[in-house]
Amino acid sequence: EKVVLAYSGGLDTSIIIPWLKENYGYEVIAMVADVGQGEELEPLREKAIKSGAAKIYIEDVKEEFVRDFVFPMLKAGAVYENKYLLGTSAARPLIAKKLVEIAEKEGAVAVAHGATGKGNDQVRFELTVKALNPDLKIIAPWREWEIKSREDAIDYAEKRGIPVPVTKKQPYSMDRNLWHLSHEGGILEDPAVEPPEDVLLLTNPPEKAPDQPEYVEIEFVKGEPVAVNGEKLSPVELIFKLNELGGKHGIGIADMVENRLVGMKSRGVYETPGGTILTFAHRELESLTLDRQTMHFKQMVALKYAELIYDGLWFTPLREALEAFVDKTQETVTGKVRVKLYKGNIYPAGITSPYSLYVKDLATFGEDHLYNQKDAEGFINLFGLPLKVRAMTQKPYQK
Ligand code: ARG
Ligand code: SIN
Repeated sequence: EKVVLAYSGGLDTSIIIPWLKENYGYEVIAMVADVGQGEELEPLREKAIKSGAAKIYIEDVKEEFVRDFVFPMLKAGAVYENKYLLGTSAARPLIAKKLVEIAEKEGAVAVAHGATGKGNDQVRFELTVKALNPDLKIIAPWREWEIKSREDAIDYAEKRGIPVPVTKKQPYSMDRNLWHLSHEGGILEDPAVEPPEDVLLLTNPPEKAPDQPEYVEIEFVKGEPVAVNGEKLSPVELIFKLNELGGKHGIGIADMVENRLVGMKSRGVYETPGGTILTFAHRELESLTLDRQTMHFKQMVALKYAELIYDGLWFTPLREALEAFVDKTQETVTGKVRVKLYKGNIYPAGITSPYSLYVKDLATFGEDHLYNQKDAEGFINLFGLPLKVRAMTQKPYQK
């Protein structure tokens, strides 16, 4: 019998291979999803086999990640607890989807992952597997084994002749893909402590960013970015390009204490340079193209959408229904947004759209012919009627 393991090449998922063989007697198939983690993945072929895997799949899912997960999230305006652009949360359902696909192709009976029993990631992997193939057994070694520390893990690996990475222990727990890089653990576990500068790997600290601001123009079609500075780019190229520009100018560092689904608060530092520029620019364009009611309703949808993604509920009827709502709103979110990047900040520098609802003659303080100021009196009388009635009837409550 076979199990498909979400493998990263790190120490933890490396020892999961022999552990699964010894404890379950399974043949282990390793699966690496290339979500743009910026590491060389080819060497993992040999490494996985040396660690005891029967076979390894390396799946390039970068385009699928952006097209089917990141862009829907961007269009929805989903941001968790006002800060977190959900980089890890959005990648987990895709990785789990690939696990299921390969398990089905290989005729495997189980899938396994290396997420701990204290985090959100285990929930996201497992809810996705349940949603896509309820027959697959799910194994989470971190919830079962006795290995508690890095020393235990190295010891376990060495006893089995498994290559132990020469790199020394990372000071933080990181998760990287083309949308973001997250840092948790270590000294960051104390929210009273400012993150040391060595945390940042994609982004310049704002004080080290260039002294000259830089303008960037992003073109959107139906809510999806298609070009940067007039150059058409594929979704993946576009994000790499904006990561580079944003990183240079110190854009998109989020330092926060967040509420994990499993109950505790945790502190994380996120680097999302390109994503932060896109989120900002997309919202600018919506300010011009969405009517007031739709925009306000969409703000409520965005809150719920973010919570669903965070909680691992990607493959659910509610998220799909909200996606349909969002797509409808994006039909006119087409146009160009210019922004200015400067020392960690983004400033609006011009929005245009063929679907703009902005009518200068209406908004102007000068004379206009569409809007009759006398109409406002009747409007305010009716709109204010309940206030007036309350004041008239509830005299004792008034001073
Ligand atoms: N706290 C973030 C989230 O729940 C980031 C998790 C990072 N995961 C990791 N395995 N390092 O989405
Ligand atoms: C983990 O436990 O694997 C990382 C943290 C998280 O999932 O929230």
